[in-house]
Amino acid sequence: MYIKNYNYQAYGIEILEPLHQIAMGCERRFQMLRNAEPHERYDFGSTEIGFVIGDVRYSKWPNNANIVFVGSAIYGEKTMKSIEQRIVENLPVGGKVITLTRQLFNDTDDFRKIDAVLVKMSWGHSTSFIYKRVKK
Ligand SMILES: C[S@@+](CC[C@H](N)C(=O)[O-])C[C@H]1O[C@@H](n2cnc3c(N)ncnc32)[C@H](O)[C@@H]1O
Repeated sequence: MYIKNYNYQAYGIEILEPLHQIAMGCERRFQMLRNAEPHERYDFGSTEIGFVIGDVRYSKWPNNANIVFVGSAIYGEKTMKSIEQRIVENLPVGGKVITLTRQLFNDTDDFRKIDAVLVKMSWGHSTSFIYKRVKK
């Protein structure tokens, strides 16, 4: 089953130029698939996709982000605190945050941890934590 007639925006922020270039290559391939003949299993929809090179701690975040995925498996304490601060500033009530391995929001009532699931990544299994903003 797939969802039809949706219209989302998805953005990624990466600090390293070579990895940003790989993401741009993936986007080009995705756009080629999307512009090709309709696929019998997938509807690629009209999701707008963008990749930004920059430091997530200081870059301007895309407007109206309401689901934030943080590939935080290797992030240190200071980076996690800055990201947490940006999320507090930007995420609307009802918005969700997904992290990998590292956890957020130990000392606030504004976010609730709603799930923790083990996911298979290319390097092995990693716990993914899912939070929902309940207050602002
Ligand atoms: C676990 S990898 C995720 C790789 C890939 N973006 C993905 O989602 O599969 C974490 C990535 O975060 C990037 N990164 C680390 N610190 C960052 C920062 N301050 N701002 C933006 N990206 C950062 C690293 O270069 C690395 O590519």
